[in-house]
Amino acid sequence: MGIELDMAGKVVMVVGATSGIGRASAEMFAEAGADLVLAARNGGGLSELSFELERRHQATVVAQAADATRAGDMSRVVETAVLRFGHVDTLLYAAGAGALKPFAETSAEEFERLLAVNVAGAFNACKAVLPVMERRRRGHVIALPGILGRAPMAQAAAYCASKFALTGLLKSLALEHKRAGVRFTLLHFGGVNTPFWDSIKMRVQRERMLPVEAAARAVLFAAAQEGEAVLNEIVMQPESHQL
Ligand SMILES: NC(=O)c1ccc[n+]([C@@H]2O[C@H](COP(=O)([O-])OP(=O)(O)OC[C@H]3O[C@@H](n4cnc5c(N)ncnc54)[C@H](OP(=O)(O)O)[C@@H]3O)[C@@H](O)[C@H]2O)c1
Repeated sequence: MGIELDMAGKVVMVVGATSGIGRASAEMFAEAGADLVLAARNGGGLSELSFELERRHQATVVAQAADATRAGDMSRVVETAVLRFGHVDTLLYAAGAGALKPFAETSAEEFERLLAVNVAGAFNACKAVLPVMERRRRGHVIALPGILGRAPMAQAAAYCASKFALTGLLKSLALEHKRAGVRFTLLHFGGVNTPFWDSIKMRVQRERMLPVEAAARAVLFAAAQEGEAVLNEIVMQPESHQL
């Protein structure tokens, strides 16, 4: 994997663990020795991933099917984590939905879905996990606003709106929690070659995107910072799209 980071004894909760960046990160966290709490809607996918991580990395994994847009589901995942491990060190909010298309073709329902998964889901996950972190005065929230949570793009109005909202949520929470022991990292990745793009019609060159392993390495690197250090924001672009 290129870098050796030790996450032994750390409890990492991944929401959106069944695919793409969340899944690749869960694999690297397991390899680095972390205990894992995995959540996504697809229970079968979660069971298959848990089995893999236990078999390949002897990881301790609890998995729970959950929809991030439901506040109760996020609370139950955090309750399960606390029952099993006593606390949560790191939340990776990797659930997300995409729609990149002309504004005229974007329906109100699609916009609502983007806001629900990309923003309200992150709100629900933070609402559930932050009290646990605040009590311990220790914790770390990592999320993926992406480059479109920082810069606008044509044919991405609804998606950018949801991702800028996520950026606003996280940056405000970071200010509210400084000196409370809870750290926040916003990862602004350009295109990452994941199943996210399977349903997107916009013409893109997937082979020139960031490999998912590069994204997961950045997640792990952010999570493994020690002491006072916080990687608040990381911008990572494919070589062909440098800023
Ligand atoms: N790929 C990129 O180019 C890129 C670049 C920058 C940022 N990002 C962001 O990174 C995040 C992950 O993207 P990805 O590329 O890894 O996408 P992906 O491969 O489509 O994976 C999305 C994950 O989110 C889960 N999910 C979706 N809706 C959910 C819900 N309501 N509740 C719980 N889990 C839910 C999915 O699992 P289930 O279907 O099992 O629920 C899946 O595990 C997204 O927020 C995306 O916007 C992606």
